Amino acid sequence: MAYYRAVGDVPPKRHTQHRDPEGRLYYEELMGEEGFSSDSSLLYHRGVPSAIVASEVWELPDQTRTPNHPLQPRHLKLHDLETGADAVRDRRLVLGNNDVRIGYVVTGTDPSPYYRNAIGDECVYVETGSGTVETVFGVLSYRAGDYVIVPRATTHRWVPSEPSRLYPIEANSHVAPPKRYLSRYGQLLEHAPYCERDLHGPSEPFLVEGADVEVLVKHRTSAGVVGTRMVYATHPFDVVGWDGCLYPYTFNIDDYMPITGKVHQPPPVHQVFEGHNFVVCNFLPRKVDYHELAIPVPYYHSNVDSDEVMFYVGGDYEARKGSGIGLGSISLHPGGHAHGPQPSAIEASLGVEYFEESAVMVDTFAPLDLGEGGLAVEDPAYAWTWAGRGPDGGDSPAVFSNS
Ligand SMILES: [Fe+2]
Repeated sequence: MAYYRAVGDVPPKRHTQHRDPEGRLYYEELMGEEGFSSDSSLLYHRGVPSAIVASEVWELPDQTRTPNHPLQPRHLKLHDLETGADAVRDRRLVLGNNDVRIGYVVTGTDPSPYYRNAIGDECVYVETGSGTVETVFGVLSYRAGDYVIVPRATTHRWVPSEPSRLYPIEANSHVAPPKRYLSRYGQLLEHAPYCERDLHGPSEPFLVEGADVEVLVKHRTSAGVVGTRMVYATHPFDVVGWDGCLYPYTFNIDDYMPITGKVHQPPPVHQVFEGHNFVVCNFLPRKVDYHELAIPVPYYHSNVDSDEVMFYVGGDYEARKGSGIGLGSISLHPGGHAHGPQPSAIEASLGVEYFEESAVMVDTFAPLDLGEGGLAVEDPAYAWTWAGRGPDGGDSPAVFSNS
């Protein structure tokens, strides 16, 4: 993210001697994306950032992926998912492919281990709860409705001040604002639904003393996603200052200004971030279409090139009553199969001026597999709710879908 920030004690000239009050040199580290060819920051450490004294296997939770075959729309009830209480180790895999993994965890109030994701950026949506995320760049506060963006390879830990429902979107790439909202030099443009004032990065250094500190590292090998526990000779939170355009930050959905139209606007107007082969959108409370003959709910749409994942996080879902979709639900509408509202929902939406709803959407360009966590809380009746009957016959309720 090309938005310069400077925190703490940095020397006036990069790559020059920078010393503590006793005259000891700090150790300069460049964290840079795409080799040395994209956004980066320079960090000044008290200790040597590469000094490890041990490295051993960290067994990740079950990363099994099951193909969506036979092809079906799916409804996964995340509030029924039992998880352990650790924000990092107890994430259960809900959906995933080779570009992104979506998990879910309900934390307690104990801090997570120190952790970094060496595969890609993390975009963690905070469904409920609050606390802090301590990082080598400083501390972020988080609250419900935040996206917490943690760049790849950033050592951090979660410190919930209350139990928190977290929805980690783990990329195999970087996560950034949509390119079309950025100037050629990276500033958010006037037509963007948010701006730099809405992005909250660390504001001061965060220093911790310590020796032989464990850090869990998630990384990739030819065997897939794996974990390693590395032990550092000195505490990784030893950065006295840093500057640059690469750092963690938060963005809250309340600061997203929805773009509305005279007739129905397609999901790209709700986009907030993008990664490689996927996008993140949020559907938020807003005035809806104001043409005198407008149909506020969407037309049927066939996602020719993408799978669509809606996570329903707030608002009034009376219109979906009986469909099984509710707060904490995920719907997966896969590519190659049309979806949309039932005719009765279309009629019911006519004349409506405001939608009171919040949902976070991930659209992927490659098909998503089901994780073990997703399979554990699937509502098997969902696929048949448009027709009102499935292979077993019987009645099924109407479905009202706003995406
Ligand atoms: Fe949709």
